[in-house]
Amino acid sequence: MIIAVDGPTASGKGTISRQLAQHYRLPFLDTGLLYRAVGWTLRAQGGNADDASDALAACRFHSDLLADPGLRSEEVGGLASRVSVHPAVRNALDKRQKDFANQPGGAVLDGRDIGTVIAPDADAKLFVIAKPEARALRRFSEMKSRGEPAVYEDILADILRRDERDQNRAAAPLKPAEDADLLDTSDLTIRIAVQQAIALVDARISRRVDIDPT
Ligand code: DC
Repeated sequence: MIIAVDGPTASGKGTISRQLAQHYRLPFLDTGLLYRAVGWTLRAQGGNADDASDALAACRFHSDLLADPGLRSEEVGGLASRVSVHPAVRNALDKRQKDFANQPGGAVLDGRDIGTVIAPDADAKLFVIAKPEARALRRFSEMKSRGEPAVYEDILADILRRDERDQNRAAAPLKPAEDADLLDTSDLTIRIAVQQAIALVDARISRRVDIDPT
């Protein structure tokens, strides 16, 4: 079974996907980390994130980098969003994600284009959203709890900028697949959001079984 989870930054999709993977005992891939690794490598190489060939050169990173906590910073997230507009970068990361999705037994993947491009035949697709203010507040609280300096207004402006870029790029923009279930987590606790996500996936699977009993 393949579960595709897409949505904007800080929508809750990461936590929801991790818990879905645990619940259904499936391997999990946070595809945003791949783009973050490109952003990180590009910065180390002194490249320009808006230059397609600099960004492509940064796609050759070592897998060990994916475990580096430095990838989670807001700065690297912003670089990831910028490098992800280049079709050459998306192509370079495509096979790795598709191979992960199509492994025997299936997988859970989260990102921006999983339901539309990476796994268009996924058994269940969730599109997780939340109001920008709710997402900025979550990010603000996370940063404060890690002891990082955080200014709510700056975080909100950054989130809106990234949404704009991710939704309006020509290559694989962030948008729900036609057959995705929408989950708005603005007013939900994480526990309830996960319960609703599991209910949506279960409903999709049972519908599939009804249609194709093989
Ligand atoms: O999910 P995240 O915040 O870690 O993702 C960082 C950036 O990477 C995001 O702003 C856009 C890009 N990205 C993408 O274009 N496609 C994906 N499947 C995952 C992330």
